[in-house]
Amino acid sequence: MNAPIDRRLSVAPMMDWTDRHCRYFLRQISQHTLLYTEMITTGALLYGDRNRFLQFDAAEHPIAIQLGGSDPTDLATCAKMAEDYGYDEVNLNVGCPSDRVQSGAFGLCLMNHPQLVANCVHAMKTAVKIPVTVKTRLGVDDNDSDEALHAFVALLQQAGVDHVCIHARKGWLKGLSPKENRDVPPLQYERAYQLKQAFPTLNIGINGGIETLEQTQHHLQHLDAVMIGRAAYHDSYLLAGADQAIFGGDMPIQSREQIIERMLPYIEREMANGAALKHIVRHMLNLFKSCPGAKHWRRHLSTHAHLPNASIGLIHEALVLMQDAAPDDDTTA
Ligand SMILES: Cc1cc2nc3c(=O)[nH]c(=O)nc-3n(C[C@H](O)[C@H](O)[C@H](O)COP(=O)(O)O)c2cc1C
Repeated sequence: MNAPIDRRLSVAPMMDWTDRHCRYFLRQISQHTLLYTEMITTGALLYGDRNRFLQFDAAEHPIAIQLGGSDPTDLATCAKMAEDYGYDEVNLNVGCPSDRVQSGAFGLCLMNHPQLVANCVHAMKTAVKIPVTVKTRLGVDDNDSDEALHAFVALLQQAGVDHVCIHARKGWLKGLSPKENRDVPPLQYERAYQLKQAFPTLNIGINGGIETLEQTQHHLQHLDAVMIGRAAYHDSYLLAGADQAIFGGDMPIQSREQIIERMLPYIEREMANGAALKHIVRHMLNLFKSCPGAKHWRRHLSTHAHLPNASIGLIHEALVLMQDAAPDDDTTA
């Protein structure tokens, strides 16, 4: 039986970014922050190499899987698979605006089909004991009133959803790329706060544009949870104080060098099992963001890690190059 999840802070699902190597790395920075997988479609799990998509390291707990799909039976089957693999939570994507996802009739366009989403949640809840959660937005296209949002969330609550995370902006299915949909529609945090006031017994979280633990603490005065996406990837060390500041832990904060030390046995093991160094270190390039000499770390790893004979020794070399840079070296990045 999994321990109950404390989801006050999580790192968002991000395609191509939050793969298992990334999550293992982030876990060395924060022990308690909930980590999401990339979105995995029901089709990939039902007809693809299931083990490749589902496997993860026990150290990654607490870990939530995000599913993309819209067929209640398929989602229930995939939720059960995820539970059997040991995931702590299963999340349904009702926020992704990409064309690929629209043609599969899931993601953000599901906001136009609230009863179907509720049926999906109900089917997953019936299939598993782990929490079933939904990540969505404030609205889609012109279907973006508070009335529609609250009616949608009421249906989710009736279906038994355990947590709803709101990316606090609407999305446009036509006219904006997925990337633009993460920046162009304005953030409306107040509307997410109002949602919590309207559903005080439902666990509700917020996402979008949150970049620091201070901002996280501010949002937690209004809502139950905060999800950080891009900032946690572009400046991973921001999570370093999370266990203490957000979860109330009293362990010492790990230095960046200690985090690297903790990665080395993992990298050795993964490389022995056939993983390429570049696939792991790409997630570590921003560890020294804003530190003097950070560019040397980034540059050495990104120039050499993809070479056929790249070895783990590169990491030590990159550290030395960075540390040898003059203290006033203006190569922070
Ligand atoms: C590279 C990238 C991939 C993403 N992939 C997903 C995804 O698979 N599922 C999802 O729900 N959201 C996805 N998102 C959106 C994020 O989860 C998050 O909602 C968004 O980036 C806003 O949060 P932020 O401002 O903290 O980054 C992705 C974002 C990025 C930058």
